[in-house]
Amino acid sequence: MKIAIIGTGNVGAALGGSFVRAGHEVTFAARDGAKTATVAATAGARTASTPSAAAAAADVIVLAVPYTEAIRVAGEIAVDAAGKVLVDATNPLKADYSGLSTVGGPSGAERIQKAAAATKVVKAFNTVFASLQANPGLNGQAADALIAGDDAAAKATVAGLASSIGLRPIDAGSLVGATELEALAWLNIALQLRTGGNWSSSFVLIGAPEKAIAA
Ligand SMILES: NC(=O)c1ccc[n+]([C@@H]2O[C@H](COP(=O)([O-])OP(=O)(O)OC[C@H]3O[C@@H](n4cnc5c(N)ncnc54)[C@H](OP(=O)(O)O)[C@@H]3O)[C@@H](O)[C@H]2O)c1
Repeated sequence: MKIAIIGTGNVGAALGGSFVRAGHEVTFAARDGAKTATVAATAGARTASTPSAAAAAADVIVLAVPYTEAIRVAGEIAVDAAGKVLVDATNPLKADYSGLSTVGGPSGAERIQKAAAATKVVKAFNTVFASLQANPGLNGQAADALIAGDDAAAKATVAGLASSIGLRPIDAGSLVGATELEALAWLNIALQLRTGGNWSSSFVLIGAPEKAIAA
């Protein structure tokens, strides 16, 4: 699958490396061209000069930028990403890491869907720390990738991607469920912040209903 990853930080580098190892064709785009080239070379991926150019050449686009930039980037790539799967891996954290900025309103994913209305937004990978995105079996068993979206085919595509890198995809329902996925991610982040942990905790739903396991 041709995957564009917008962002070359913790998430972009981790997912990009895993996707390449799973046999996918990955193209990175961000703002800092030199860093983008380095991250792409390390992962065995390509680069594009802009997020829009990366989106235009991809089947699936992964948003791996800070949430404060995500709406802007979604708007920027909206035309080139139209009709395609747009994976929202972001978490709408407050700038001071005291919680989520979206509480009481739509989830970050729903706002991204609004900014890029013709794309098929799927919330995924936001509940998985970068350490696990790079190594899904880090804790001795496959971490769960909780996936929410309104388009069944788009969700199946993302479930297949998650599965291809060794995560267990769980169908968490429609895009309104992104509110819960963002809250769940925050729970894990807050736990790490409070305890000075090593950012390797992951969710595995014990006894998950067979029909929720997406691939
Ligand atoms: N870290 C985790 O374990 C983790 C896990 C799950 C989800 N998340 C979420 O995933 C998102 C990314 O996290 P991260 O830890 O990877 O962040 P990060 O390390 O700070 O990386 C952010 C990346 O976004 C790029 N970027 C920022 N603004 C941009 C713009 N306008 N256009 C294009 N690229 C832009 C930056 O590129 P430049 O350097 O070129 O500016 C950088 O490569 C966040 O929403 C985070 O909450 C993080």
